[in-house]
Amino acid sequence: MTTVLGIETSCDETAAAVVLDGRTILSTIVASQIDLHARYGGVFPEVASRAHIEAIGAVVEQAVHDAGVGYDQIDAIAVTRGPGLVGSLLVGVNYAKGLALATGKPLLGINHLEGHVYSLWLTEPNREIKFPVLVLIVSGGHTELLLMEDHGQYRRLGGTLDDAAGEAFDKVGRLLGLPFPGGPNIERAAMMGNAIAYKFPRAKRDDSYDFSFSGLKTAVLREVTVPPASGEPRRRGETPRLRADVSINDVAASFQDALVSALVDKTARAAKAYQVTEILLAGGVSANQVLRQRMRAEAGLPVRYPPLNLCTDNAAMIAAAGFYRYRAGLRHGLELDVKPMWPLTSDAYTR
Ligand code: KG4
Ligand code: ZN
Repeated sequence: MTTVLGIETSCDETAAAVVLDGRTILSTIVASQIDLHARYGGVFPEVASRAHIEAIGAVVEQAVHDAGVGYDQIDAIAVTRGPGLVGSLLVGVNYAKGLALATGKPLLGINHLEGHVYSLWLTEPNREIKFPVLVLIVSGGHTELLLMEDHGQYRRLGGTLDDAAGEAFDKVGRLLGLPFPGGPNIERAAMMGNAIAYKFPRAKRDDSYDFSFSGLKTAVLREVTVPPASGEPRRRGETPRLRADVSINDVAASFQDALVSALVDKTARAAKAYQVTEILLAGGVSANQVLRQRMRAEAGLPVRYPPLNLCTDNAAMIAAAGFYRYRAGLRHGLELDVKPMWPLTSDAYTR
């Protein structure tokens, strides 16, 4: 039995968790900053790192307490090293170093995207996952399509060329005057809307597995806002005005349909091309019910996705990824640094 303490502070959630053998959650604590950032309509890095500093001690202590273990029963401390906001990452990494020094336990710096991948190993822990699988990570910061051939073996097939899927949800949500974060609020509005009311651009018809959402976002903007008076440029930072005849619900439904179509089309095509056993969805946007249902219907393969609390950022997924890295022999010293930009590839941990 291997017990790993996970710590995650890469964006706007301060989280700690204790996981057994990479599959069983003993405790998971997430202190969300959503209310804090909702006031600004997005995540402010300085505000985020200050909130992490205030929360981290209590969050870790609570996770260890709830797991019913002492530090002597913990085998390793896994912390998110990147990618993410540098000031936020530093809070978690420094706290983990302090703990490693105080307890003498090994320290492991973990890739946040790999954490999202391993959230699937915490889902239905008794059902085996057979490689190769296709993993679609869709969050506020990332849109990555990965072929996973074994533990730690990733081939990046494609990703977004501009906005992340969750970022597109958040930007369109803000445009429509919906509260932050946009994703769940757009999904709710879309339930009462007509998905074919507006024709927004869908997946690029090309051979790549890349995505692009900024054109979709601009198309929504153009369709639903009052154009600036002729010859007058829109001032930077000015909030565009919505046209009076716009149905928020119809725009939400049509936008969601276009974005989900792009994700499903390319993922389903890759799944066939690489003959995977199943499709794994991870990240905040994988909470979206329309994405889940359409992926299942159109890919013709089993589709696995995490429960809601494991879709969004958490530390149980970092502890789970940490377990597989610990088993493979990874150990870091106290000189561990943060990697704000850190793509997930098979050689990610050796570079
Ligand atoms: O994984 P996550 O918590 O944080 C990052 O690592 O970015 O993802 C947050 C993102 C936000 O952009 C949010 O709008 C989106 O996930 N999201 C959703 C839904 N729930 C959260 N997007 C679409 N539909 C949802 N139900
Ligand atoms: Zn994330």
